[in-house]
Amino acid sequence: MSFFTWTQDLAIGVAEIDEQHQGFVALLNELFVALQAGEAPATIDAVVARLQRYTVEHFHFEEQLMFRAGYPRLAEHRELHRYFVEQLDQATATNEHASVPLSLETLSIMTHWLIEHIRGADHHAFRWIARAARPSSVPPR
Ligand SMILES: [Fe+2]
Ligand SMILES: [Fe+2]
Repeated sequence: MSFFTWTQDLAIGVAEIDEQHQGFVALLNELFVALQAGEAPATIDAVVARLQRYTVEHFHFEEQLMFRAGYPRLAEHRELHRYFVEQLDQATATNEHASVPLSLETLSIMTHWLIEHIRGADHHAFRWIARAARPSSVPPR
């Protein structure tokens, strides 16, 4: 059973970004399955560590594209990314240092945030970048 299913309406039309978002969903699903199966903390921590690395790399990749394109809302977008990384760090710290494991509820909240981020901020940014790349189009706002 999957926790979250990738659907085509989440695609933003940039192949690399869409692939990375699908990778995100796959990792969140993997974490969900591990948590639900009651896997050992070391196993959960290993998936969380991969998710953390993936998150940092993906966000960095996006920010680089936005920077190169001169996206005017980069600072705002960066703040959104920073917020998610902090949430993930906190969830991991709880998992490592207390007897309370990362909860399915926390995972659900983070997944929801991520999906809304893809639908909202990521869509906006990459639509802007696509329009900015077309010289004949009306300058994007
Ligand atoms: Fe993204
Ligand atoms: Fe983003």
